[in-house]
Order: sequence, then C-alpha cells, then structure tokens
Amino acid sequence: MDTTQTLFETLNPPQRLLMGPGPINAYPRVHQALSQSLIGQYDPVMTGYMNQVQSLYRGVFETNNQQTFLVDGTARSGIEAVLVSILQPGDKVLIPVIGRFGHLLCEIAQRVGAEIKTIDVEWGQVCTAEQVETAIKQFQPKLLATVQGDTSTTMNQPLADIGEVCHRHGVLFYCDATASIAGNELKVDEWHLDAVSAGLQKCLGGPSGSSPVTLSDLCAEVINRRKHVEAGIKAAHHQEGVDCPIQSNYFDLAMIMDYWGPERLNHHTEATSMLYAARECARLFLEEGSNTVIARHKQAGDALAAGLAAMGLRLFGDQSTKMNNVLGVYIPDEVDGDTIRGELLNRFGIEIGTSFGPLHGKIWRIGTMGYNARQECVLTTLAALESILLKYRAKIAPGQAVAAAMEFYR
Ligand SMILES: Cc1ncc(COP(=O)(O)O)c(C=O)c1O
Repeated sequence: MDTTQTLFETLNPPQRLLMGPGPINAYPRVHQALSQSLIGQYDPVMTGYMNQVQSLYRGVFETNNQQTFLVDGTARSGIEAVLVSILQPGDKVLIPVIGRFGHLLCEIAQRVGAEIKTIDVEWGQVCTAEQVETAIKQFQPKLLATVQGDTSTTMNQPLADIGEVCHRHGVLFYCDATASIAGNELKVDEWHLDAVSAGLQKCLGGPSGSSPVTLSDLCAEVINRRKHVEAGIKAAHHQEGVDCPIQSNYFDLAMIMDYWGPERLNHHTEATSMLYAARECARLFLEEGSNTVIARHKQAGDALAAGLAAMGLRLFGDQSTKMNNVLGVYIPDEVDGDTIRGELLNRFGIEIGTSFGPLHGKIWRIGTMGYNARQECVLTTLAALESILLKYRAKIAPGQAVAAAMEFYR
C-alpha cells in the first residue's frame, strides 16, 4: 500500500471563460441534465430517452435518417466508428484535407488498410467541388470523407456542391461536423450526406464525451453487409453479413444500430449521463431554432472579428469561408503567444486557443460557441486581450475593439 496516498481536496475547478476552439462552457441546463439520477439501460424510461435522442438529433442534423444515434466517446469515436464500419481493407477513400482533422481521417483510414487519395489545400483555404469531381473521376472511390469546420484552420468546407457531385457519381459522402454543427448550416439530407458524426463540446454547448452520428439508409445497408453478432447473444434468427466483419468491436456500427434498434441487442452500456447531456443540447438547439442559433454564432463571430481588426490585428485565412464560431488571428510579432494566453488565463480566467502544425506560434484561435456565443463573452474577451497586449507593449490601436464589436449588438 502507498502510505503517502492523499485524498487531495474536494473537486473545485476554477471558473473559466472558455473562448478557445472547444471545449467551451456548457449551457447551465446541460449541467442540470448531467446531474440527474442514473437508471438502468433497459429501463423503459431510459429506452424512451434513447428514442427521444434519436428523434431530437434527426432535427439537429436536418435528416429523416432512421439511423441517428450516439456513439459513446468523444467526437473522435464517432469519426472512427464511421470510417472503420464503412471501409474494408483495400477500399478506396478520397479525403480533401483542409487542416489537422483531415489528416486524422487519413490516419484512421490508413489503419483500416484503405487505399487513400488526398486533395491537399493550403491551410486557410477550402476545397472546390471541381477538384473533388476531377479526383472522383480519376480515383473512383467508395467513400469521400471530409471535415466541415476544421478548427485547426478555422475554415468551413462548403458541402452542398460536393454532396451533389458524390451523389451523381455514386460515392458515399461522410463528414466530420464536430466543430461546425449548430454554429453553421448543416443540411444532411438536402446535401446528400450519407454519414455525419459530431461532438457536443463546440456549438452544441455540452461537454465532450458523446458523438451524435447519422447514417443514410444506403450507408446503413453498406455497414450491415458486414454484420456480425457476438457469441453469447446470438440467436437463431440473426444472420451474418456477407462482407468482412468490422475490425473494431466497440466501434462496430452494425452492432450499435442493433443496440439502438427495436431488438436492443446488447452491446455496450449506454453512457447515461452523457445521453442526458446530449438530449439537453439538442433540446436547447431546437427550442431556440436552428436559424436563430446559427445567426447568434455569426453575430458573435463577426463582432469578435471586427473587434480584433479594429485593434489592428490581422485575421487568418480566407474570411469568406471562415467558420462562424472560431477565428484565427495572427499573434503580433512583438509578443510571445503563450505568454499572452497565460496572462489571459491567470488574470482574467479566460482561455483562448493555441494552434497546430504550420500555424503553431503564429496564430491564436478564439471561439464563440454555444453558451459563449454571447455579447458579454465577446466584449470581455476583447477588453481582456487588449489590456494584456498593451501591458506587453504590442503595437495595437487601443480603445477601438470593444466599440467595434458593440456595433454588432445594437
Ligand atoms: C473538427 C474536429 N474533429 C474532431 C475533433 C475531435 O474531437 P474529440 O477531441 O472530442 O475527440 C475536434 C476537436 O477539436 C475537431 O475540432
């Protein structure tokens, strides 16, 4: 036994204003939902909640897809579940890479043994439907996988035209909408998306740990051709699929669909508290109304951008394809980015984001998402950043930022 063991103090994390690229502060109602009583996974109340979650997320995704459910795990679990369930070794996948999370799709597809072709665009830009069509004609993929809002670059990949191209060429179309959902338009059925996965910790205003996923009937059929029912729960009426079984057990979407389906075939134990949170996130989004929520994100994003520009800071990337909910801003040459971030956290309790890869040390990423897509969060962040930059003698225009942002909230 470790005689030096201590119980530490009662958990009491500091109050922070989370203005990075996610996670963000959750809506108070989501915290309430998280603290509700646990019930058994086959309690009719619980299975009723599961059905409600499916219905609510059909609304969030703007889809009629029967197969709409949660994968238990962070947003990456939804991505991995979709890719590992669709792609068999040797399958061809086309991946437009607009940032770090495009590389993640490649990494997962590579581990599956898929044949990958990428369309690489400079960070700060997005991919065109023409580039996609040319690559599809040449490569003939089974799947096109992309990221909608890539937080690493703050760009929002337009999907409608790519969806039309994929549909016309009979290519399955998947997108990771973790960072964009609920802050930017996402029309799953209208844009011919066959699979979409998301997370709660950005514009949906919840904690990380649950990944809403939706699959078209066609995509569900492709996955179910790989169905394998585990020994111990398999009954005479269960039929094995004709294609090779999915390599992952936990992320086997054929089994997860059976767990969420009428048979409720046992797979994992549904993460009850996270389901409560996901349910409340969707209720909040639908109650406020998708157009209103997205407009609120745009207003906050535009106000922040105007404030930073008025301060004399330069914004990163093509502003016409920027996500509404997170923006990149160049760190002034005179200051060290991490020192400023540290001062913001320690003096004001405000967190903003660093950046990855080619942008590391060059830009900060500031998010205005979910509960934090509000005037007071934008103004407080601008005022705090300005005062720290002045302390470190950055060459900025003082006294302009907050006023410029307030113009968006008349
Ligand atoms: C676009 C995108 N995809 C996936 C993820 C991964 O999410 P998680 O950390 O919840 O697995 C993130 C997280 O920042 C993201 O921004």
